[in-house]
Amino acid sequence: MRRLVVISNRVPIPDASGKAAAGGLAVALHEAFQAYQGLWFGWSGKVSANPAAQPKIIDKGQVRYAVMDLTSLDRQEYYNGFANRALWPIMHYRIGLSEFSRADYAGYLRVNRSFASALAHLIQPDDLVWVHDYHLIPLASELRAAGITNAIGYFHHIPWPAPEVFGALPGSAELLRGIPDYDLVGVQTERDADNLRRSLVQELGAVRRRADLLDVASRRVRIKSIPIGIDVNGFQQAAQRSGSSRLLKQTIAGLGTRKLIIGVDRLDYSKGIPERMETFERFLVSHPDQRGQVTYLQIAPTSRSEVPEYATLSRVVNETLGRINGSLGEPGWVPIHYVTSAYSRAVLAGLYRLARVGLVTPIRDGMNLVAKEYVAAQDPQDPGVLILSKFAGAAEELTDALIVNPNDKVEVAEAIQQALHMSQEERTARWQAMLKVLRASDVSRWAAALSMTWLAIRQPEPVAK
Ligand code: G6P
Repeated sequence: MRRLVVISNRVPIPDASGKAAAGGLAVALHEAFQAYQGLWFGWSGKVSANPAAQPKIIDKGQVRYAVMDLTSLDRQEYYNGFANRALWPIMHYRIGLSEFSRADYAGYLRVNRSFASALAHLIQPDDLVWVHDYHLIPLASELRAAGITNAIGYFHHIPWPAPEVFGALPGSAELLRGIPDYDLVGVQTERDADNLRRSLVQELGAVRRRADLLDVASRRVRIKSIPIGIDVNGFQQAAQRSGSSRLLKQTIAGLGTRKLIIGVDRLDYSKGIPERMETFERFLVSHPDQRGQVTYLQIAPTSRSEVPEYATLSRVVNETLGRINGSLGEPGWVPIHYVTSAYSRAVLAGLYRLARVGLVTPIRDGMNLVAKEYVAAQDPQDPGVLILSKFAGAAEELTDALIVNPNDKVEVAEAIQQALHMSQEERTARWQAMLKVLRASDVSRWAAALSMTWLAIRQPEPVAK
């Protein structure tokens, strides 16, 4: 049996009871790991003063996990620094928030190199190697330098911005030069694929051979949009079963006859959380009859709190929330409920099903699986309405949502009004159309599409100059 070697910054090792992790990538790869023996390599999430040069190995069923500790300087420069303070904002079109430092960039390259040198010993000649996300863009070049000639794929989970935006990042041309060391690059949307191809053509003089094939110097790379999906059946079942959860019963009792609007996001500035709260405020001000009739629940687990921009966001959200609840709330009604705990997939599925409106309004997002999960969780007899930002990757597929520009608070406020008053017939028609799309790009098809394209590519012939 061939082996699939997956590399990602975070490695979701199943817990002691063997329960699989519920993150998007773990769910997405679950089926692929039924078909292949697996090796999953990455950061242990731990920091130590003297990390071992070789990874710690943990075997769980078909999959072998291999994880490495980082030094605290590595974490600071590679993870908090270059990946999350320089690259993440640029990839999300936020040039003004991007903080570049040469030391951080050197740390990013150093960690990629040390991952590659540890991983190179574990790769066998027939392995398919599949790298995930922006923390690891230079990994293929480092693996090639270590003598690895296997086919290597990369999947970019977040947006790839227009060349004018990406080019603003110091070191961007060097990062681009690492791309052709992959054989296949998967991105979430056609827009991302187009942006990356244009960057390669403009910056590196790449030559387009066919729609998705580019020759760059002596290598050939395929750049393809392969939007990630969810486990539709699994999520539907979780939503159906959720009725017995205590938390859900309490939420239902607390709501009474009020309608629920839900937002679920990591606490990240790309998600537009304070902007969304202000939109809801706008809605309540323009439609005073709705006060006391509706509750907006925002779940936002804290994220990357060592990065200053995230600490600032947390303060801004708390201030915005306090101001809105203080000015519009009433003794018996709090307009916005805000919680920063993370909930299990089962509880979230139940809350999505309960909510009349799913408010997914990121300023920029690679895909946004919450949008897909919200749709999958709905009760077919009485589905809710998805309000979706045009800047989420999911908007390319879920065209039957109410698509909005998150920067236009009036437009989003009116979409809330429209959603709350939409007839059951229209809600059902929109939901059915979206469910069909979800099924067509179910997660099992995502992993299969990637690995099939990639098997077809194999090791490319060097391109004649
Ligand atoms: C996004 C990224 C992932 C990342 C996740 C959580 O979804 O695409 O690569 O793992 O955010 O962020 P964190 O920094 O906590 O890993």
